[in-house]
Amino acid sequence: MRKKILIVITGSIAAYKALYLIRKLKEKDFFINVIMTNSAKKFITPLSVSSLSEKRVYENLFDLTEETEMGHIKLAKMHDLIIVMPASANFIAKVSNGYADDLATTVLLASKTKVLFVPAMNINMLTNPITQKNIKYLRSLGYDFIFGNEGKLACGDYGLGRMSEPDDIVKYLDILFDKTKPLDGIEALVTAGPTQEPIDPVRFISNKSSGIQGYLIAEELAKNGANVSLISGPTNLSTPLNLSNFIKVETAEEMLKVCLKKIPKDLFISVAAVTDWKINYNKHKMKKEEGIPKLKLIDNPDILKSISFHKKRPRLVVGFAAETKHLTQNAMKKIKQKKCDFIIANNVANSKEVFGSNMNEVAIMNTKGIFLKLTKMDKKKLAIKIVKEVIVPSLN
Ligand SMILES: Cc1cc2nc3c(=O)[nH]c(=O)nc-3n(C[C@H](O)[C@H](O)[C@H](O)COP(=O)(O)O)c2cc1C
Repeated sequence: MRKKILIVITGSIAAYKALYLIRKLKEKDFFINVIMTNSAKKFITPLSVSSLSEKRVYENLFDLTEETEMGHIKLAKMHDLIIVMPASANFIAKVSNGYADDLATTVLLASKTKVLFVPAMNINMLTNPITQKNIKYLRSLGYDFIFGNEGKLACGDYGLGRMSEPDDIVKYLDILFDKTKPLDGIEALVTAGPTQEPIDPVRFISNKSSGIQGYLIAEELAKNGANVSLISGPTNLSTPLNLSNFIKVETAEEMLKVCLKKIPKDLFISVAAVTDWKINYNKHKMKKEEGIPKLKLIDNPDILKSISFHKKRPRLVVGFAAETKHLTQNAMKKIKQKKCDFIIANNVANSKEVFGSNMNEVAIMNTKGIFLKLTKMDKKKLAIKIVKEVIVPSLN
């Protein structure tokens, strides 16, 4: 059936890109309605929008014709997806605080439809803790966000804040609306990245994990239809598309806490390089003049083991093992100790070739031994192979 999409255009310099989006979605035969905020109309005209959408543009909450023709509640209910593109900082703030002071915000508040925000704003607006708090809160409620790559912004600054391109949105829709996928209905929990264990307010211990492989696996699972919760340690990566949930944490303890909250699930893939030890935290910055500190390492919780031995254990548990020697023997030991179904072992003896790099070479072990050996390939291909050859057959 033809999917119905409501596009909300807000007041950003990137509003012109909504015109490309409308054209692309029309080409793909989506049914489209558009709401423009008053500020959006300062950047592009309703006339150009309606010429492309071949529909009238909705603008006013208190317009009698609009209410009789198409009331705001009907607009809120009748679509399969609402895309806010571009999403201004102001609009995100209003939605996250429950405002309903114009047609667009009222429709969003009255709607139970899935919402995708495509933010576009100056880097300082985006990184402002207020905006970050709003985004985090909306995400925790299940609202989706797609961010563009780093680059030059319209305001002349450089950084994140650029809007995703209409082609990225089309890719998002292809995945969202394709319901014939092998992992449809599967609930997946994935951890990625390193954890950071604070020593004092300015120092920490951690490891070299970049998070790339975990993010790619999470994205591939979602592409195959799974509802994916990704719990990530600190990384510089952009959020994978189509996740159900994305939570950033710092320490191993925080990661474990979130993971425990998220089970039961069908699948747990522990890609995160959890720092094995933490340190007695010093509330104040340790001073150099006080001499070399004696740091006492304490065991961190074992997240893989905690989930694997839990009474709500997912039916498939996959761990990663980074080893510098005796790769397969150590991986076999880990599979037994941690009661995993599979361990994906990679040799990190030459760590520069794995951490932060786009290439990886792994051996996938199950309880009987080597299940699959994958030669050196880029991490995206590896994610595709892991999902297709290990995860999908094991869950079906
Ligand atoms: C030239 C110009 C460009 C702007 N670009 C952006 C932008 O890219 N992102 C943003 O969040 N706000 C931007 N603003 C500010 C918003 O337009 C302003 O916050 C407005 O109140 C947003 O209204 P709305 O959220 O109801 O559409 C810009 C303002 C001006 C004057």
